[in-house]
Amino acid sequence: MTSTPGEPEATVAPKKGFDPIPSWVGPTTRLVHGARRPDWNAGSVVPPIYQTSTYHFPSEYSEAAQHGNTYLYTRSDNPSVEVPAELIRQMEGGEAVRLFASGMGAISATVLSLVQPGDEVVAVGGLYGGTTDLLSELLPRFGVRVRTVRDEAAGMPEAVLGNPTRLVLLESPTNPLLHVHDIARWAATCDRTSAMLLVDNTFATPINQNPLALGADLVVESATKYLGGHSDLVAGALVGPRALVGRVDAKFYFGATLDPFAAYLLGRSLKTLALRVERQNASGARVAAAASVHPAVARVHYPGRASDAEEEIAARQMRGRGGVVSLSLRGGRVAVDQFLRSLRFVHVASSLGGVESLACVPRLTSHRHLSEEELQATGIDDGLVRLAFGIEDSADLVRDVTEALDSIDTHSKAAPL
Ligand SMILES: Cc1ncc(COP(=O)(O)O)c(C=O)c1O
Repeated sequence: MTSTPGEPEATVAPKKGFDPIPSWVGPTTRLVHGARRPDWNAGSVVPPIYQTSTYHFPSEYSEAAQHGNTYLYTRSDNPSVEVPAELIRQMEGGEAVRLFASGMGAISATVLSLVQPGDEVVAVGGLYGGTTDLLSELLPRFGVRVRTVRDEAAGMPEAVLGNPTRLVLLESPTNPLLHVHDIARWAATCDRTSAMLLVDNTFATPINQNPLALGADLVVESATKYLGGHSDLVAGALVGPRALVGRVDAKFYFGATLDPFAAYLLGRSLKTLALRVERQNASGARVAAAASVHPAVARVHYPGRASDAEEEIAARQMRGRGGVVSLSLRGGRVAVDQFLRSLRFVHVASSLGGVESLACVPRLTSHRHLSEEELQATGIDDGLVRLAFGIEDSADLVRDVTEALDSIDTHSKAAPL
């Protein structure tokens, strides 16, 4: 199945217990009303926080438990966690969902639950540094081979996948170079070779892209980023068919449970996800355009800009291009230091997706564990800075970035930050 940009794909009915919502609603109506329950304490409009580790057994416990109608223990189930879980499930358009204590919790539990000794995992070029560490350092200890494909090979799944490939992991757009991979093409090739396709949708969010609708088997996200949206919580999500999520969920969940309070914050934040991402898309596109004509910038990295082929893929599979823009500055490290010092509203910090704009140097943060050769192979140069825009006014962000670029003195030797 392929996605048409602009058309919401996620029209799955709410889970039992939640108020029904028509399939025709737009994303924000769904995010505000998609996980309401008539039975919340005192009829509260806002879901209560069930800050409990355990639950009283009802007198008819054995019958309720048999029908899955009761809560047992918060590591497995908690009503506060179900609220954001249900919203993310509907937005991604999947049958089942599990929330985790972090994005890495979601990725590691998923990967480790689905592979066994003798399998091969294919990592499509440009993965988050933590995911790269998990694949390259942990999996080989358990007899799982990991093959990373980059550049041209990353665009040719038919030539890459073979018999022992159990799992393919890709991000699109990638962190930090914003390359776009053809999810539908990878999905079709995985179907032919019986491999599973796991897509990390953190950068796009379900507002801009629905990997399941494009044929992916599973989607993971760091909910710490856009879904949480306020840089005040850490969470992860896995969405997909019941049978596959159940394989991660039932036995090998590894206990990375989302805390009820963090779940409450996540549910509150999700109500504004579409509004925030709309603004972030606009700011990303405007800053990318402004930076592309600035003499201090050697290259702008933004989804679809890398080549005509990537533009065609992005136009086909994304409804918006996102709020992250990376810049390769001509003056290398010195220029990066001057640029970061001059930013007024864009704070220098790792992470992305919050209401405040952040800037970071990938070689010192998200990709700090990579060797010099790996950094070069990935295309992370000394002058690379990643900008993740928040919800400030787009014009102010364009001005802030342009003035900081203007401040770069290509002749001076500024002390490093
Ligand atoms: C694309 C991507 N996936 C996964 C993660 C890991 O998420 P978390 O920090 O919530 O564990 C990150 C973190 O930066 C990320 O950028």
